[in-house]
Amino acid sequence: MGKGIFITGTDTDIGKTYVTALLVKTLREAGYDAGYYKAAISGADSVAESDAGFVNRFAGIGESEDMLLSYLYKHAVSPHLAARMEGHPVEKEVILAGWARAAARYPYVTMEGSGGICCPIRHDEKAVYYLEDIVHWLHLPSLIVADAGLGTINHVVLTAFYMKARELPVKGVLLNNWKGGVMEEDNVKMIEEMTGLPVLAKIRRGDAVIDADPALLASLYE
Ligand SMILES: Nc1ncnc2c1ncn2[C@@H]1O[C@H](COP(=O)(O)OP(=O)(O)O)[C@@H](O)[C@H]1O
Ligand SMILES: [Mg+2]
Repeated sequence: MGKGIFITGTDTDIGKTYVTALLVKTLREAGYDAGYYKAAISGADSVAESDAGFVNRFAGIGESEDMLLSYLYKHAVSPHLAARMEGHPVEKEVILAGWARAAARYPYVTMEGSGGICCPIRHDEKAVYYLEDIVHWLHLPSLIVADAGLGTINHVVLTAFYMKARELPVKGVLLNNWKGGVMEEDNVKMIEEMTGLPVLAKIRRGDAVIDADPALLASLYE
């Protein structure tokens, strides 16, 4: 079975998909056979238009759609609410099987989370699942994607401490929309000091690869 890592973020639209695509692309270009998996996506009409389709194309994985994603909801709301509107709520066995298929095929699987770490995935009379339950089921370490700019210290520290309280191991932080300058450099120092986590990469708008040693990135997978 392959190794995996889970990508969460401080918010939705913070760049999890873009950074995940970059991570997979960076590994693939360095010769690592890296794949992608996402449990549930909402707000897309097709896999091709969704996060999974973007990563598949951007990172040059070339995988079939059913291997990339287990649940697709049209409404752009949290999966638990989308499932109430559209039916077919997330089933644990489907996620375990979807992950197992990806990990059987790829030695390095990057799993993107939905929303932030507190995202409700299913909430009905039969089951209640939060995103963190999925991470626990799969025993994956995580990376936190955050914006590089103003406000990020608070967002990263809250996410990191929540994950610590929930006993979810975090390997580091990836700062997106990096512009540089005194404040962003200070954000790196403050995040590292306040969370004890390393800032592993700074990603600029439109970057085509992650500026980090691919062997170090690969070593984060467990
Ligand atoms: N570093 C970046 N360079 C260019 N576009 C980016 C970058 N980060 C995010 N985006 C774009 O911003 C939007 C939101 O990012 P996305 O990765 O979809 O966020 P999330 O997965 O956290 O919801 C998308 O259109 C994405 O392509
Ligand atoms: Mg996304």
